[in-house]
Amino acid sequence: MISLTSADPSSLSTDALVVLVAQRDGTAVPLGPVPALVTQVLADAAALGVTGALDEVRKVPATGIGARVLVLAGAGAHERLDGEALRRATGAATRELAGLGSAAVVLPSDDLPTLRAVAEGALLGAYEFGRYRGGDAARSPLGAIQLVTSLSKGAAQDALGRAEVVAQAVNAARDLVNTAPNDLYPEAFAEAARAATKGLRAVKVTVLDEKALAAGGYGGLVGVGQGSTRPPRLVKVAYSPARAKRSVALVGKGITFDSGGISLKPPADMDEMKSDMAGAAAVLQTVVAAARLGLKVAVTGWLCLAENMPSGSAQRPSDVLTIRGGKTVEVLNTDAEGRLVLADGLVSAVEEKPDLVLDIATLTGAQMVALGRRVSAVMGTDDVRAHVVQAAAAAGEQFWPMPLPEDLKAGLKSKVADLANVGERWGGMLLAGLFLAEFVGDTPWAHLDVAGPAFNAQPAYGYTPTGGTGAGVRTMLELVEEHAARP
Ligand code: BES
Ligand code: MN
Ligand code: ZN
Repeated sequence: MISLTSADPSSLSTDALVVLVAQRDGTAVPLGPVPALVTQVLADAAALGVTGALDEVRKVPATGIGARVLVLAGAGAHERLDGEALRRATGAATRELAGLGSAAVVLPSDDLPTLRAVAEGALLGAYEFGRYRGGDAARSPLGAIQLVTSLSKGAAQDALGRAEVVAQAVNAARDLVNTAPNDLYPEAFAEAARAATKGLRAVKVTVLDEKALAAGGYGGLVGVGQGSTRPPRLVKVAYSPARAKRSVALVGKGITFDSGGISLKPPADMDEMKSDMAGAAAVLQTVVAAARLGLKVAVTGWLCLAENMPSGSAQRPSDVLTIRGGKTVEVLNTDAEGRLVLADGLVSAVEEKPDLVLDIATLTGAQMVALGRRVSAVMGTDDVRAHVVQAAAAAGEQFWPMPLPEDLKAGLKSKVADLANVGERWGGMLLAGLFLAEFVGDTPWAHLDVAGPAFNAQPAYGYTPTGGTGAGVRTMLELVEEHAARP
């Protein structure tokens, strides 16, 4: 819950008053109209360990003001202050305040972009995944949040409402990723899609089960899913508002657990492969957010859901699959399963002739080799790839453009089929992108590889918790929104 208040921050009765602090000329300077107490406290900044560095959160007794504690949250260098720094500083603060009932954040300046960034950061930081824990009060997320600002009119309320929708979508995607794979298998994910869209006007969910997939020629989903006792699903989540002039398709990799299959992964960190459905979670929640915001653009999500398991019924290296539409693929490594299910999803998506298609996937370990754990990759047709990079920057996510070199394609030659699902190791992320490109025809397209950023196995930082992060939701929503606004 989040609201605006124009009250004097000194008199606000709240558990915690949060003030952002930046670094300028070696000193910590408070941002926004702050109580005199803050200036007094910062006179002794060094002794209190307050430097204003990003991710630094310090709590001090709030003597003489309405709040119980004063929280100083570092936003980093003053000359580099941008929306993402504010989002991150606010999120670090609200994350540290788990267990408290209420907090107020002083807005650094009274403008809509600042309001949006701070509101998003506050709500993204106030996230806890409690499903499998007994009622541990210290771990319940911060309750009511007030933003202290003179803004109050319609545009400010709209910006706050949008921030709430965005943050709820990201947090819901995180929940799906964090849910254990014995609870979130393809059929359960399909049910979650129905539940998430229940009551949303203009949204229709269609589920293809394993029989429908076999009958419809979805060889990738059938092949990858056949080793599991929990059969695959293709879920179409269509938001079709009246008078939409444009349409966007989003295709998400939804491997609810990736053991590697017969090409079994090593045991170390295999648990993290419960996050291999993060693309599908991001797609589902982007459609939900677009519908809740009533955007005037048709958005169709395709969730490619399967569990990749080894068993007597699992596909083998050397099996040949026929993807929807007729292209054949020789499976040389059953651990390169994402591209197989995405191929079916991409073909289905482009059959409906959308203006553009995005796919998002935890697709390759090579993504992390190239860009690390916090920067996602984007490949595809030049214009859409550029639009993703720009939308990501606007939304506060890190996406970096990568090429699809034609000459690498030879690496995907099969001795028996149209394509092999793996080639040489070098450039593995690009090769996966080139594989997907075979299934989009001439539809404008981008492929988002979020292998690293979708799941944070490290300690929390800024507004990013340990576990599922919701990577891609903000970028895709921003892109969809901008697409809707195009003439
Ligand atoms: N889901 C993995 C990719 C992955 C690895 C995501 C680590 C997040 C963290 C994917 O299905 C996979 O196993 N890819 C293989 C492809 C290879 C066999 C060509 C990989 O990257 O090793
Ligand atoms: Mn795999
Ligand atoms: Zn995978």
